[in-house]
Amino acid sequence: MRAVLSGRRWRAACASFVLCLFCVGAVSAQGAQDGLALAKAKTCLGCHQVDAKRVGPAFTAIAQRYAGQADAEQYLSKAIRQGARGRWGAVPMPAQSQVNEQDAQRLAQWIISLRP
Ligand code: HEC
Repeated sequence: MRAVLSGRRWRAACASFVLCLFCVGAVSAQGAQDGLALAKAKTCLGCHQVDAKRVGPAFTAIAQRYAGQADAEQYLSKAIRQGARGRWGAVPMPAQSQVNEQDAQRLAQWIISLRP
């Protein structure tokens, strides 16, 4: 009897573990979708691609460069709003003044999350 009970308990624990993994996966996939949709809406993708260079560097390359930097999110959201120059090549990025502070922060978070 005891063995049956613990077997059931084990199955229940296992099921909730799998469910939990599923939820975490769904939530992070949602975040990735939101980030990409926002980048699209704010016309970032006219100059950037997620994982290849276009006019500007790939977002994954940006993630990689700033990954170890403690203030990366703040730095990048400021760079998005004020523009950037001289960091990646000869072409500067104009200030993205259509992006408000909150969206710039979300975009910065999303870009950092793309680190391969
Ligand atoms: C007109 C083209 C253009 C558009 C539109 C554009 N970017 Fe850029 N972006 C660039 C270029 C070019 C660079 C590289 C600048 C440099 O060398 O410092 C860059 C660099 C960056 C960087 C790295 C800054 C740094 O200091 O390393 C981030 C982050 C970034 N862009 C995010 C965005 C986001 C988010 C958007 C949309 C709101 C956007 N960009 C729209 C061209 C663009």
